[in-house]
Amino acid sequence: MNERTALVTGANKGIGKHIARLLVAEGFTVHVGSRDPERGRLAAEEIGGLPLVLDVTDHAGITRAAARIDRLDVLVNNAGIAQSLAPPEDTDADELRRTFETNVFGVVAVTNAFLPALRRSPHPRVVNVSSGTSSLVWSTNPNPQFAHGHGSGAAYRSSKAALNALTVFYAQTLPGFRVNALAPGLRATDLTARAAAGGDPAEAAEGAVRLALLPDDGPTGGFFSWDGTTVPW
Ligand SMILES: NC(=O)c1ccc[n+]([C@@H]2O[C@H](COP(=O)([O-])OP(=O)(O)OC[C@H]3O[C@@H](n4cnc5c(N)ncnc54)[C@H](OP(=O)(O)O)[C@@H]3O)[C@@H](O)[C@H]2O)c1
Repeated sequence: MNERTALVTGANKGIGKHIARLLVAEGFTVHVGSRDPERGRLAAEEIGGLPLVLDVTDHAGITRAAARIDRLDVLVNNAGIAQSLAPPEDTDADELRRTFETNVFGVVAVTNAFLPALRRSPHPRVVNVSSGTSSLVWSTNPNPQFAHGHGSGAAYRSSKAALNALTVFYAQTLPGFRVNALAPGLRATDLTARAAAGGDPAEAAEGAVRLALLPDDGPTGGFFSWDGTTVPW
């Protein structure tokens, strides 16, 4: 079986659905991860992928999903959540736990469950969809006009900073893999309540696919913007 396979988590809508669509166009058999079976079925049908029920916070479900896939060439950890902006006094530990459950622990659970399938690939690639707001260099730019996510979203941005650290960890401990983080840029999706300033999510997806198709001598353990430029940690 020489067909290349990919799994995109949270692929029933938004950036994830565009990533899945582009990977189908690249010739991959794409498993369209969705926590809701019907939403996943509809998206998979629309883009020509295979629906895979996958809630990244459901460990038993992750194990079941992993058992269905023998070999995986590309894993895109895209599923993510964000809370509304909150002042420090409303940013409590429970909010961080909820956010980390999906954006961090979910990525670890899914990545680890699919490691055996990824190890069967001759060119395993993992793309972690992070966020520019996690960049401490960017977010502390003294000019708030240029500071990504200035003063906002403690749970979200810290969860993505943890995801960046995990990206480096996996890259350093998985020889032969290419594991990288992506900053998709602000996009008009449900996550941002279709932000008026948000760009086309399809453009962000192209950045994810570039990282999914890296050659064997491509970078690993890096943080890249959707346009391919390096993002400072
Ligand atoms: N949009 C932006 O401006 C932006 C900027 C930076 C980073 N990002 C990142 O890009 C990724 C995609 O976001 P998006 O903008 O495309 O948002 P979106 O349209 O809200 O899509 C998020 C996807 O994640 C899924 N999801 C959430 N919790 C899940 C869980 N527990 N298990 C499985 N799937 C789950 C959602 O499924 P349901 O439909 O079931 O909720 C949905 O498919 C996220 O990681 C986000 O943090 C987005």
